[in-house]
Amino acid sequence: MEQLIEIISKEVKGAFNNAGYDEKYGNVTLSNRPDLCEFQCNGAMAAAKEYKKAPIMIAEDVLKGLDNSQMFESVDAIKPGFLNFKISNKFLGEYVDKMHSDNRFGLDKTKNPLTIMIDYGGPNVAKPLHVGHLRSAVIGESVKRISKYIGHNVIGDVHLGDWGLQMGLIITELKLRKPELCYFDENYDGEYPSEAPFTISELEEIYPTASGKSKEDEEYKEAALEATKELQAGRRGYRALLNHILTISVGDLKKNYEKLNVSFDLWKGESDAQEYIPDMVKLLKDKGLAYESEGALVVDVKEETDKKEVPPCMILKSDGASLYTTTDLATLVWRVKDYNPDRIIYVVDNRQEMHFIQVFRCAKKAGIVRDDVSLEFLGFGTMNGPNGKPFKTRDGGVMRLEFLLDEINNKMYNKILENDNMNEDEAKSVASTVSLAAVKYGDLSNQASKDYIFDVEKFTSSEGNTGPYILYTIVRIKSILNKYKADNSIDDLHIMEPDSDCTKKLMLELVKFQNSIITAYEESAPSKICGFIYELCDKFNHFYHETKILSCEDDVKKKGYISLLLLTNDILETCIDLLGFNAPERM
Ligand code: ARG
Repeated sequence: MEQLIEIISKEVKGAFNNAGYDEKYGNVTLSNRPDLCEFQCNGAMAAAKEYKKAPIMIAEDVLKGLDNSQMFESVDAIKPGFLNFKISNKFLGEYVDKMHSDNRFGLDKTKNPLTIMIDYGGPNVAKPLHVGHLRSAVIGESVKRISKYIGHNVIGDVHLGDWGLQMGLIITELKLRKPELCYFDENYDGEYPSEAPFTISELEEIYPTASGKSKEDEEYKEAALEATKELQAGRRGYRALLNHILTISVGDLKKNYEKLNVSFDLWKGESDAQEYIPDMVKLLKDKGLAYESEGALVVDVKEETDKKEVPPCMILKSDGASLYTTTDLATLVWRVKDYNPDRIIYVVDNRQEMHFIQVFRCAKKAGIVRDDVSLEFLGFGTMNGPNGKPFKTRDGGVMRLEFLLDEINNKMYNKILENDNMNEDEAKSVASTVSLAAVKYGDLSNQASKDYIFDVEKFTSSEGNTGPYILYTIVRIKSILNKYKADNSIDDLHIMEPDSDCTKKLMLELVKFQNSIITAYEESAPSKICGFIYELCDKFNHFYHETKILSCEDDVKKKGYISLLLLTNDILETCIDLLGFNAPERM
């Protein structure tokens, strides 16, 4: 379905054309003076140069041609040459009704579906999720849902960190505790047990213990480094342990992501890239790109136009070990081979930007990725605590995500118990739905690249630009609809032309749906959807306060309002689903 603003633009372009001017001047935009008009066209000012005529004369010529248009309630030519439009109620009502009868509210699927991979989440196996991982999960999930809704073929990959020192640390600690296990016996050539020699809670304790020890004990650290190297070189027993760690950890991670309403199509990790490293290194050498520098193997990736220094991309360390860059390059090998994506979007902390500049350039230079594949770094800023500094626990450690979510959940639970007579079970379930919305909206309503403060008070408030405010509005609409549905059918209802200023304003907001989603997709910016639904809720609440809906005596009018509520509700629920949360039935 064509967007309303495109239809209007067409009409105005036609009028420019009929009046003897190039139609390119007829582009219509939303008004930046909503007190004067709803839409405007500034083309006469630009046309004045070409036609050497006063802009107001051009605007008046065009205006004459629009006199009979059914689309507008009024068109004014205002000095120096603006064309100001108010759309006709009938035309607007009919358009919004068409949106209502379309199950995508007028947003057609793309005619040109791409394969898009999204690399997000990025948790590190065996380490608990910390607050830094929240943003990647929340933003990535939303970008994934938006891209799917547009009609693209989207693949989300969690890209586990499962190949680093943390593995060596766990192995070292385990060996110390249970040296008798067959995994440590180099002469063992039987099958390894299918059961892991630890549970998730042991694993969660082993890693921090080992990490703490390695900071104090040089020998211990050496052992962990050695174990990491042996694991990476393929030592059988260690590989078997890695698999145990992965199985247990992934099971736990899945549960945690589920709570966040985040899910991945692929659970690949750094370790899955390892088998591609030797051939890739050979390719880099054969192409004459990789050379030795101080013992290490590197590829130059700097470009003349660089404003900051881009150091060479390190492929192998002097001891032959691979690095984070190596893994990301090799990951691109299988991504291209198995999925042939048109775009790959990496949702990662801003602080890793240089790493990705190097990886992207190296991949293109070597032809690991075709030139027309778009490799995109969607960097996000830091989530800070109330003091404006990165989140820390009281003793200065990294804050576990769980604790943060519990805090906001408890806050929400108490609020909900306070002002309603819900039973405890329902209050719990509602609190978890609303607190997830609070967290996600609090994050997504900011431009991703900016730092923001995780402000529990603000995020859980039901007033202002917050998740709970959006949910309250949805719940309000649903409750009216439920009352109506109790005695009436909602099939075959039609939206009528607006009969008041606030109804018209609500409709003029609804018609921004298509463009908001498209912009959010094009800019990988869920914040555009937040901005849209915040305004929409605002316009709805205005309408709600000014209008008798269920008590309206005119049945035709009442039906029109109800269908307007249905559309508003459907659009809001679609949008929050794209943001990755949902609304309770009541709150
Ligand atoms: N595991 C990494 C971290 O915790 C993030 C991974 C990001 N994705 C990637 N392809 N490098 O920092």
